[in-house]
Amino acid sequence: MIKRYLHQVNKTNDSLNSELLKSIYYQWAHDQRIQLDNDQLVVISKLQATLDKLILQLKYNKKSIFFKIKSRRPENPNLYIYGDVGRGKSMLMNLFFEACPIQQKTRFHYSKFMSEIHSYIHNCSKQNKTEIMAAYAQKLHTETQLLCIDEFYVTDIADAMMLERLFKKLFELNVTLVITSNRHPNDLYRGGIQKAQFLKFTELLQKKVEIISLDSLKDYRLSYLKSSQPVYNFPLGKSSDQFIKDAYAQLTKNAPIKAFKIKLLGRILTLNSAYQDIALTSFYELCEHPLGSNDYNNIAQQFNFIIIANIPKMSYEYRNEAKRFMTLIDALYEHHVKLICSAEVPAEELYTEGDGSFEFKRTISRLIEMQTQHYLN
Ligand SMILES: Nc1ncnc2c1ncn2[C@@H]1O[C@H](COP(=O)(O)OP(=O)(O)O)[C@@H](O)[C@H]1O
Ligand SMILES: [Mg+2]
Repeated sequence: MIKRYLHQVNKTNDSLNSELLKSIYYQWAHDQRIQLDNDQLVVISKLQATLDKLILQLKYNKKSIFFKIKSRRPENPNLYIYGDVGRGKSMLMNLFFEACPIQQKTRFHYSKFMSEIHSYIHNCSKQNKTEIMAAYAQKLHTETQLLCIDEFYVTDIADAMMLERLFKKLFELNVTLVITSNRHPNDLYRGGIQKAQFLKFTELLQKKVEIISLDSLKDYRLSYLKSSQPVYNFPLGKSSDQFIKDAYAQLTKNAPIKAFKIKLLGRILTLNSAYQDIALTSFYELCEHPLGSNDYNNIAQQFNFIIIANIPKMSYEYRNEAKRFMTLIDALYEHHVKLICSAEVPAEELYTEGDGSFEFKRTISRLIEMQTQHYLN
């Protein structure tokens, strides 16, 4: 879609204009592909400024050494966009990325980015962490001038320290970073250990990156879920299977269902499917394997929507699964993840006898709250 539009723009204009992103955005609104949103337009203008500065930089890089001695290198633009889910951050970043007329550009989802870093470290012969990250930054620099990272978050201090080393080097090398996240850098790491180490990373971000928020009032993704549709579907059967499939198709605009592996501490978990920040999984995948609170928190941080199929009514023998389910719901609730699920019985009847059934009342109450418009919005 963007490519087709860019082609038209390029046919009429020799050079890319400084209204490029806005004109694509307006065209989309005109085609009724999106609704015009003034808060998004503010972000579009910041992205355009980033694009303009990036192009200036590239032009500068091509100049002769004499020119470079005489004139100052243009400032390297970096942008960090944060805001609630469903506000259009990924959409705007994708628009920017596709429209950016350079070859050397790379876009990662955060979890993919981190797994690339981990596998680089694993295969690197160097021992010193600063040297490894410098070498990885150098590798990225030879491949890319623009690095976009979508859905940025940080769960542990080891990752934060690695990212600090890497970003420092990338800034030195003038690689442009454009990042989206659900959180302001100050809120990326709440109440964790070694906060002081983490502050070094957020301070670096605040020094080198322009941080802006996308404040639109609407969660656009929710509006794709049929508004009358409840998010907790029971009993189980053909109709609930269809409900789960439809929910995934509506939220992802028909992304194919494809197994998705996530790395947890010490193990790989395979989910039925995932697309951007939407996971499709089941009670079996999440609660019938020995996962714990860290794993559930990790999952809750990676996704904004979780669709869980086939939650059974749990009897006494299911007490371990019930306990895991409680921990899972706590993690999803604390991270404000939106839950869509199919179950054998209403929430109140899921686990009524056996160890921990009293504590399970909290889970019931949370499950009920998670179905309300108030929670969903
Ligand atoms: N202005 C808009 N009008 C209509 N749909 C929109 C608009 N902005 C975003 N969307 C759609 O809403 C959904 C969520 O947007 P997304 O960019 O994934 O949000 P975020 O990254 O902020 O969570 C996507 O399907 C996107 O195409
Ligand atoms: Mg997003």
